[in-house]
Order: sequence, then C-alpha cells, then structure tokens
Amino acid sequence: MDLTRFKRLDLFPRPTPLQELPRFQKALGCKPRIFMKRDDLTQSGLGGNKNRKLDFIMADAISQGSDVVITLGGVQSNHCRQTLAVATQLGIECHLILQGEKPAVKQGNLLYNTIVGAKIHFVPEDGDMDEAARDLIAELEKQDRKPYLIPVGGSTPLGALGYVESTKEVIEQAEQLGVSLGHAFLATGSAGTQAGAEVEAREKCPSMKIHGVSVSRDAESQKKSVAQMTNRVYALLGVDKTVDPADIIVHDEYYGGKYAVPTEAGNDAIRLVAQIEAILLDPVYTGKAMSGMIDMLRKGLLDDAEAVLFFHTGGYPAVFAYAEHFQNG
Ligand SMILES: Cc1ncc(COP(=O)(O)O)c(C=O)c1O
Repeated sequence: MDLTRFKRLDLFPRPTPLQELPRFQKALGCKPRIFMKRDDLTQSGLGGNKNRKLDFIMADAISQGSDVVITLGGVQSNHCRQTLAVATQLGIECHLILQGEKPAVKQGNLLYNTIVGAKIHFVPEDGDMDEAARDLIAELEKQDRKPYLIPVGGSTPLGALGYVESTKEVIEQAEQLGVSLGHAFLATGSAGTQAGAEVEAREKCPSMKIHGVSVSRDAESQKKSVAQMTNRVYALLGVDKTVDPADIIVHDEYYGGKYAVPTEAGNDAIRLVAQIEAILLDPVYTGKAMSGMIDMLRKGLLDDAEAVLFFHTGGYPAVFAYAEHFQNG
C-alpha cells in the first residue's frame, strides 16, 4: 500500500531487523525456519509496536497544533510508556490515565513513566477511564491548551498504518533473503497491529497467514474487532475492499482467559527465547503469543511453511513488574 500521502515523523531507523533464529529452530526441532521482526528495537521509550503507530498519530497531533497529549491504559501499559517517550522527545506534555491501584513500589513501565516525568492520573479498577479523559480534556481546554486524545493502544486506522508499514518491510526483507514466510504470529489486543498486518499481507503476500494470539478476548470477539479495524484501514486508504471476521485467524487458547495474568506456557516461552537467543519477551503480550507459535510448531501444524515469522512487538519492560515469576530463571 502506498502510504506516502500520510504524514509520518520518522521516529526510528528503518527497516527494523528481520532476524533468523536458527538455534531456536534447532531447540524446537521444527521443520520451518524461524524469523523474528525486531520491532522491539524501535528506540523511543525502550521500543515496541506503538512507536510505529505513534509515527503517524503524533504527526497528526502536531499538524492539528496540539500542545498536550492524553492517552489511557492499564498501570503497566506499554502504549502509555511509548506515548510518553515520543511526546517527551517532541517537547509535548503528556498525561497518562492509568486504570488500577497505585502500587506501593513502582516497577516496569510505571517506573519508566515516573522517571520520565509523566503526569499520571490513576482511575480505580471500577472507575471510568473515558470519563476521566473527558474531564481532563475539559480542564485543559479551560486553560487554553490544545489536547489530543489517543485511544487505548493507539489503535486508530491512522495508527494501524504503522503495521501496514512494518509488514511491508518484512515482505521486502524476506524477498531479499529469498525466503518464503508462510505464517506470521503476533499478539493481538486493541487490534490495530493485526489489522495493519492483514491489509499489507493480503495485498502483497497473500500466502503469508497472519495469526493473532489474543491476549484479552475470546477468538470470535477478537476476530470481529480485527475485521472492523481492518475495514476502517481500507476506508482510510480509499481501498474498495472488506474482510469478514471469518477471514481472520485468532487463537484464544494461549492467554489463560485473563488479560495481564501470566500463563505457565507464556513464562516458559520467555525463558526459552531468553536462554537461547538472549531476547526478552513479556508475560502479557509477546510471551503468550510466542507460546502459541511454539505449540503449533511442536505439533507440526505449521510444517507447510518454509519459514515462520514472529513479530516481536516489544513490551519487555513489563517483565520487571512480574519479577516474582522469574526468581529462578
Ligand atoms: C508488546 C505488545 N504487543 C502487542 C500488542 C498488541 O497490539 P494491538 O493493541 O495493536 O493489538 C501490544 C498492545 O498494547 C503490546 O504492548
């Protein structure tokens, strides 16, 4: 897809590496070669998928003359960390509305946010984050500020263009290596990442199946949400196409039924990748997504492919907030 008409900030060097993991493949004893798209290396705020979305979203905020950004998420939100980092680099004030209790000791993303100087507003578990955002916007407008609200996960059609672009990079990198990627795995939550990947893969590499590993919802609901976002991206691009939820692949058996509650298989995946490749995943998103890819590789379910891809979408700073799970490696 041609994205040249959309303003983008160029926040990090690209393409991010496409890294083959041959020792990991050997450890799993699987037939397909394994590649990892290192979107954890997108620099700002310790990297991650949100920087790709923010490249487009923050360009829009600037072009609208905004002088303060507001976003929302859980206490350990990766999206909030990266939004804060990018805003800070651009000299724009950033407010984070975080759902959950303020912990006695700050760790992981929250520690990062505190050091970088976010203006943090905690909303209790049963509170209404959208209402808190509306109140904050009204208060800032009274002060003649120009706030820009970024929804949860930065999942707007504009933000999803970041994954049209990442997938475009992957396809070009694989072509240069002469490798055929048959399956691609990513963690899917607010759906923008998978939607962007779907749009580009369907256009340029339809043989590569995109597997979303849900981190928070049953497969049927997540497929609907990804299809809806994919169709909004098509509309933004002016492409006369649509997808149905039935066209989307989502696995819901790897997240343990609860968002942000680690699974044993996810934590084992984190240890395995760390101990073989010294690459850190996280217990909320990428560890669970990797546990899904490992399971399917071990069962031979991906053997039709010469190679499989894992989008490393970042998130590893959250691992430090789950220290009790990793005391013995
Ligand atoms: C590390 C990581 N991976 C994947 C995702 C999922 O991306 P999306 O919300 O676009 O589905 C997130 C979202 O917060 C994330 O933080």
